[in-house]
Amino acid sequence: MTSLKNDTLLRALRREPTPYTPVWLMRQAGRYLPEYNATRAKAGSFMALATTPALATEVTLQPLARFPLDAAILFSDILTVPDAMGLGLHFAEGEGPRFERTAADDAAIAALAVPDMAKLRYVFDAVAEIKRALAGSVPLLGFAGSPFTLACYMIEGRGSADFAATRRMASARPDLLRRLVDLNAQAVAAYLNEQIAHGADAVMLFDTWGGLLTAAAYRTFSLGPMRAVLAALKPAADGRPVPTIIFTKGGGQWLDELAASGASAVGLDWTVDIARARQAVGARVALQGNLDPIVLLTDPDTVARECAAIVRAAGPAPGHVFNLGHGIVPATPPENVAALVAAVHGESRATRAAA
Ligand code: CP3
Repeated sequence: MTSLKNDTLLRALRREPTPYTPVWLMRQAGRYLPEYNATRAKAGSFMALATTPALATEVTLQPLARFPLDAAILFSDILTVPDAMGLGLHFAEGEGPRFERTAADDAAIAALAVPDMAKLRYVFDAVAEIKRALAGSVPLLGFAGSPFTLACYMIEGRGSADFAATRRMASARPDLLRRLVDLNAQAVAAYLNEQIAHGADAVMLFDTWGGLLTAAAYRTFSLGPMRAVLAALKPAADGRPVPTIIFTKGGGQWLDELAASGASAVGLDWTVDIARARQAVGARVALQGNLDPIVLLTDPDTVARECAAIVRAAGPAPGHVFNLGHGIVPATPPENVAALVAAVHGESRATRAAA
C-alpha cells in the first residue's frame, strides 16, 4: 500500500498512539454543502452522481477542500448492492430511496443471487479514481450496508419508521429472513473485498436498523451476518489486515458483543456514554463517535464545547476516532463543521500534551 501523509485514522483504528484524535463525519459529502448541491444538480440525480466516477470523486473531495478532515469516505450508497441484484433503485427528490421490486416473499427471495460484481464496477472505478485524486493525503474509507439493514429496504421497498414487515418476518418466517441476510452477507463481503482490492484503506459496515430488533433477533439476523462479512474480508495489497468499523445505530446495549465481532472499531451513536463504553471494552477495540448531529445546528462555541467534552470522555488511551453519532443533517451550517474539526484537533492535542 502506498504510504499516507496523514495515517492518523488508520493508527487510531489499530489503537496505536496518535498526536491528536482523527476526525471524519458520516455524510461529510452531502446536501449541507452548496458545492454538493451544485454538482448534484449538474448530474441530474443522486444515482447519476453515484454512478459517474468523476462526479463521485468530485463530491468525495469537496469536504476535504473545506475542512482538515483525517479521512475521505467513498461517495456512494449502501443500496447499490440490492440495486445490482435487480431491485431497481431510484431516489425520488426529497423522499429517500425507492425500489421498483421488493424481496418480501419466498419466490422473490429464492430468485435473488449474489450479483455479478461487474454490475458494481462504477463503485470500484470511483474507489480507484478517488485514491488517485487523494494522492496519499488521507486514507479512503470504503463501506457497505449491513446484511440486515439492506434486507430492511429490500423487504419494504423503501424507508420506514418501524420496518414492521421486516420484524414480522423475523418472528413469523425466520428461515426466510435468514436466507436473505445470508445472501446479503455473501454479496457484501464480495463488494467490500473489491473496494479493498481497488484501494480502500479501511471499511465500515452501516447497520442503521439492527437496533430495532430484539436482542435474540439482533444476534441472529444482524450481528451474525456482519461477523460473517468481517471474517470473509481479505487483507490489503501489502498483506496487512484492513481496519474495519462496525456501527449498529441503537446498538449501545450490545457493546460487548460488538467489541467481540472481529471489527477493529465500534461506532457509537450519541445515546452512548463514551467514557463508560471505553471502560467496558478496555483495549479490545477502537471506538468511533459520538456527537449528536443536532449539536451541529447550534453555533461554533457550543459545538466546540460539546466536542471537547467527548474528546475528554473518550480519554487519553489510543483508539478514538471522532465522528457524529449518525449522519450530518442537511440544515448544518458549514462553519459549525469547521468548528467541530478545529475543536477535536485542538482539544485532543492539548489533552495529550497534559498527559
Ligand atoms: O457518509 C458519506 O459521506 C458517504 C456517502 C453515503 C451516502 N449514504 C450518501 C447519500 C453513505 C455512507 C450512505 C449510507 C447510507 N445510505 C445508509 C447508512 C447510514 C445512515 O445514514 O443510516 C442508509 C440507511 C442509506 C440509504 C439512504 N440513502 C437513505 C435513507 C437516503 C435518503 C435520506 C437522505 O439523507 O436523503 C439516501 C440518500 C443519500 N445517500 C444522500 C447522500 C448524500 C442524499 C441524497 C441526495 O443528494 O438527494
